[in-house]
Amino acid sequence: MSNIIHKYRIHGRNKGRKKNQLITNVVVKDYLLNLNKDIDKNNNIIVDVGSGSGESTIFLSKRNPNSLIIACDVFVDGNINLYNEIYKTQITNIKIFKNNINKFFDELKSKEYLNEIWILFPDPWPKKKHHKRRLINLNLLKKMHYLLKADGKVFISTDSTPYLFSILSNIYYAKKIFKWENDKPYIWRYDLEILPETKYCKKAFKANKSPFFIKLIKI
Ligand SMILES: C[S@@+](CC[C@H](N)C(=O)[O-])C[C@H]1O[C@@H](n2cnc3c(N)ncnc32)[C@H](O)[C@@H]1O
Repeated sequence: MSNIIHKYRIHGRNKGRKKNQLITNVVVKDYLLNLNKDIDKNNNIIVDVGSGSGESTIFLSKRNPNSLIIACDVFVDGNINLYNEIYKTQITNIKIFKNNINKFFDELKSKEYLNEIWILFPDPWPKKKHHKRRLINLNLLKKMHYLLKADGKVFISTDSTPYLFSILSNIYYAKKIFKWENDKPYIWRYDLEILPETKYCKKAFKANKSPFFIKLIKI
């Protein structure tokens, strides 16, 4: 048991400084993912990894009304925000997995389930001694490749140049399993006309940074 807890440990805060509250009528369990009931290979399934406060999840659910959107994050206040939004908007195509994405991927087990995986503004862990904590590595790329359907896509963004270089080097090592679709610098721009404006995206633009956006397609 303690090995499992250690395996899926996530560094960083899982609660915000400001306490978020549920709208009283929200029945949280209705919004939680039930792997046996909700996952069907025949459906279009999109995973929002590190969904934070849920802006990207809501965006994806509106853009893909016939898909199941799975939001995955351990951030308690962010998940409360998303529960409230789902309740208010009565959106029916979102389910939340409130744990580590690696646990979700391991529990899926069988291959070729997913259509798209979005990882927007993952924690950059800038200090060298913390690089091992970075979510995106070759191992994760291999797992995603296994779980994506043919032509499945991965979308990644970051506003951290060192993290971008690390991601690109992993994409290079994964070049036999993923095609990097927008591999020219002038098309790496995070375009708010077509992409969600998440909390960390807003922070990046406020700090005058230009976030990068990467599209990968399963080979
Ligand atoms: C910097 S925030 C970005 C949140 C959101 N995507 C945005 O753009 O505003 C990174 C989020 O990833 C979550 N996270 C980090 N590691 C994770 C993991 N292994 N599985 C699921 N969520 C994770 C954190 O809890 C945090 O909410």
